[in-house]
Amino acid sequence: MGDKVHYSELGLANTRDMFQKSVSGGYAIPAYNFNNLEQLQAIIVACAETSSPVIIQVSKGARDYANETMLRYMALGAVRMAREMGSNIPITLHLDHGDSFELCKSCVDSGFSSVMIDGSHLPYEENVALTRKVVEYAHQFDVAVEGELGVLAGIEDEVQAEKSTYTKPEEVEDFVKKTGVDSLAISIGTSHGAYKFKLKAGEVVPELRFDILEEVERLLPGFPIVLHGASSVVQEYVDLINRYGGKMEGAVGVPEDQLRRAAKGAVCKINIDSDGRLAVTAKIREYMANNPAEFDPRKYLGEARKELIKLIKHKNETVLGSAGRA
Ligand code: G3H
Ligand code: 13P
Ligand code: ZN
Repeated sequence: MGDKVHYSELGLANTRDMFQKSVSGGYAIPAYNFNNLEQLQAIIVACAETSSPVIIQVSKGARDYANETMLRYMALGAVRMAREMGSNIPITLHLDHGDSFELCKSCVDSGFSSVMIDGSHLPYEENVALTRKVVEYAHQFDVAVEGELGVLAGIEDEVQAEKSTYTKPEEVEDFVKKTGVDSLAISIGTSHGAYKFKLKAGEVVPELRFDILEEVERLLPGFPIVLHGASSVVQEYVDLINRYGGKMEGAVGVPEDQLRRAAKGAVCKINIDSDGRLAVTAKIREYMANNPAEFDPRKYLGEARKELIKLIKHKNETVLGSAGRA
């Protein structure tokens, strides 16, 4: 795609004001991943109806899946759709887990208002240098940058880590100062995907490392912290998937009360992808099983979209606390 566009031309907002308000308000901004039309429609409808600021985010894989030009206009369409609904919610288009300067630059050039450069798997000084380079480019266009320190277990796009490495609070201040990032993802015990904890019979989900989060907050008061891998892995969906031919035994996520606690503290952005995937898969499986003769995608994708709207409203209203904050 040759022609550059600035995010303001698409009606998007960067994260600066959103994060400032969420720090003082004790809530977190939801960052929902999307790959297709129905997911994006659901995010916009749910956030407009709950009056919640929102970050719509795409991974490198999602960008390849949806096509970068298509994405630009989907984002423009999302903003227009919200406005036509009479809603003025701020909408940020964010790159999730950018893995190179070139990818981040391409997103800045094609209208993203925020990018993440994930150098968390690199040696510290290399992470600093790469993040700094992205910040220097993005800030020329008023695009916000999210960095990451500490490694989450599981798959981060194409990068796979067996074990998590918690963020070292003593590195955070130095990293933020040297790179100039606008927000920072940290590792406090979450992981990506639907299998976040391996629990034996009778065991409960362990508590996230709130001590690390609190120490980071003490060292950098008011600085926006991001929580990845924050799906709750809603059991109702896991059960539906298993009931209708799926195989997801042992899927477990972060309990809602822990997410609420994080959102009240320094966490300003909470990333949710897996819960949306589960809702869509559960509803499609259920619909297909109950309507074997149906072959109109609008029917089963419509059911999935309806459920996603319900899920996102619930997250905004009772988990993140972002409802009514636009
Ligand atoms: O952090 C990863 C996100 O859930 C995106 O996943 O790379 O499969 O699109 P993806
Ligand atoms: P979940 O897999 O817990 O939804 O995390 C998503 C995420 O962190 C995207 O960057
Ligand atoms: Zn992530």
